[in-house]
Amino acid sequence: MYYPEEIVEEVRQKSDIVDVISGYVRLQKKGSTYFGLCPFHNEKTPSFSVSPNKQMYYCFGCGAGGNVFSFVMNYENFTFREAVKHLADRAGVALPEINDSKEYKEKETHRQKLLAVNKEAAKFFYYQLRSPQGQVGLNYLKKRELTDETMQKFGLGYSLKTSDSLVKYLRSKGYDDSLIKEVGLANFNEKMGLHDIFWNRVMFPIQDINHRVIGFGGRVMGDGNPKYLNSPETPIFDKRRNLFGLNFARTARTGNFILCEGYMDVISMHQAGFTQAVASLGTAFTAEQAVLLKRYTDSVLLAYDSDGAGTKAALRAIGMLREAGLSGKVINMKPCKDPDEFIKTYGADAFKERMDNAENSFFFEIRILEGQYNLNDPEDKTRFHRSIAEKLCEFEEEVERENYIQAVADKYHIGFDNLRKLVVSYASKTGLAKPVERPKSSVQAKEKEAAGARQQRLLITWLSEEPELFPTVKKYVTPEDFTDPIYKVIAEKAYESFEKTGGFNPASIVSFFEDEEEQRRVAAAFNTGLAQNPETLQDRQKAFNEIIVGIKEESNLKASADMGSDMTALQRFMDGKKALEELKRHPIVLQQ
Ligand code: GTP
Ligand code: MN
Repeated sequence: MYYPEEIVEEVRQKSDIVDVISGYVRLQKKGSTYFGLCPFHNEKTPSFSVSPNKQMYYCFGCGAGGNVFSFVMNYENFTFREAVKHLADRAGVALPEINDSKEYKEKETHRQKLLAVNKEAAKFFYYQLRSPQGQVGLNYLKKRELTDETMQKFGLGYSLKTSDSLVKYLRSKGYDDSLIKEVGLANFNEKMGLHDIFWNRVMFPIQDINHRVIGFGGRVMGDGNPKYLNSPETPIFDKRRNLFGLNFARTARTGNFILCEGYMDVISMHQAGFTQAVASLGTAFTAEQAVLLKRYTDSVLLAYDSDGAGTKAALRAIGMLREAGLSGKVINMKPCKDPDEFIKTYGADAFKERMDNAENSFFFEIRILEGQYNLNDPEDKTRFHRSIAEKLCEFEEEVERENYIQAVADKYHIGFDNLRKLVVSYASKTGLAKPVERPKSSVQAKEKEAAGARQQRLLITWLSEEPELFPTVKKYVTPEDFTDPIYKVIAEKAYESFEKTGGFNPASIVSFFEDEEEQRRVAAAFNTGLAQNPETLQDRQKAFNEIIVGIKEESNLKASADMGSDMTALQRFMDGKKALEELKRHPIVLQQ
């Protein structure tokens, strides 16, 4: 279900891209373009450009680009619909109701109610922590060295010792018993009636990426069982698909994420300035969470407990990360138990150093494996080498596998050829070392540019900067000549708009593409410059003719290839040949 095109276009026109991006990135004007540090990759010198004329942005460093919608989608991780809504609110454009199904609407209303109960409960806990009865909770958190600011940022709270204070409060706010129970804040039994699940605990609200409270974790103060009590799964609390701290970490833009085991770890890392820290929700790290992280980063640092359980959990997490195509590294926490303790004992600088020296997850796995063998015993040692070979087979890409064979051979003083032989024999015996199916990531799905596509991009950019050339261009080039499917769509839209209005608007063309990768390519098409800027009119003319001729030749090549299957191809080929001959006889002449 989408908003009508005209409304989307209205929102876009009322959301000046320089204005919107300035809210996120410090921009400086240079000529007709603004520049700043790219928010989508790490850089020290600005290669991120925003063009007020084209109403587009493009990063010459990482290739991120698009219009104002793509920017908000990428920065805030919004869907297209959410981005339109966000900018419409900002610009004061009223959006029509989207006609969703009745079931969908009912479900959504119910979810909103559950969220409202949680929000009210979080407020209640928050208030209690700062009340006289909550003193014990506040003291506990202070003893754990949390500042007021941190407690506030994470909305920490306290559940009272009495068994029904929250239930009473929520009822007084008009919420039904069934709702309070469904959201996991209360239980019912004959003896006690409806009673609170959390009592006498410090409370950690668990938020989704939009800062909505979807569940709670409650910790006993001191020793006691269970140490942590977590909300059960509910229609709004999916433990497999959310991460504690992600609402803050997703905008940290440090180039990596730190994955911890516990809520306290995350909080203490954020307090120390590592705002890219997240944790799973009282359950083991899941494949879904790995895919979720992949939306934001390529690199995850594991900050798990240093004990046996932590190591085991780390090994599991590494597998999940690898499956999702993420690179994992393990931070050495020793001699401390967990990151929280490490930060408190050695401070943030020491932790940063540990991050910089984090161990490659494959070496970590091998090192743990090593502990299971007695390397003084030749038989055990052989077994160890075999299991290394087995693990090496997991690398599906040959170059990567060879690199690892080399690295492991060096590290463990195994001859490279011997280890390689072992890998090959293991692989052929078991049929391993063939590609494992991986979830498709946007990077893998990236389409290759068609041959000659660069010239098509050059022409699109040129036309967007000098629209007065359109009447000349259209004499020779039709949208059909754009062999790259995306550039063809751009050309179609541009030609259509030229015919109708005498000009065209790059940013509105981006709106036709909703896929992030496509939007990047569209942005690139509007930001392709010649390798060398032509200085004289003659040079410009030469460059322009080369582009036009190049496009026509490529198109003709395709037409002749299509002739077997496409009735129109012959005609296209003949027309193309004529145009090329014409161009050779009378090259295009540009005005000064
Ligand atoms: P602190 O002792 O407060 O520092 O806790 P921690 O953050 O170091 O947590 P710990 O390493 O003990 O556990 C990691 C995570 O596992 C916690 O944040 C909880 O989400 C979860 N967890 C720990 N204990 C329990 C428990 O008894 N029951 C449940 N369901 N989850 C637990
Ligand atoms: Mn801890």
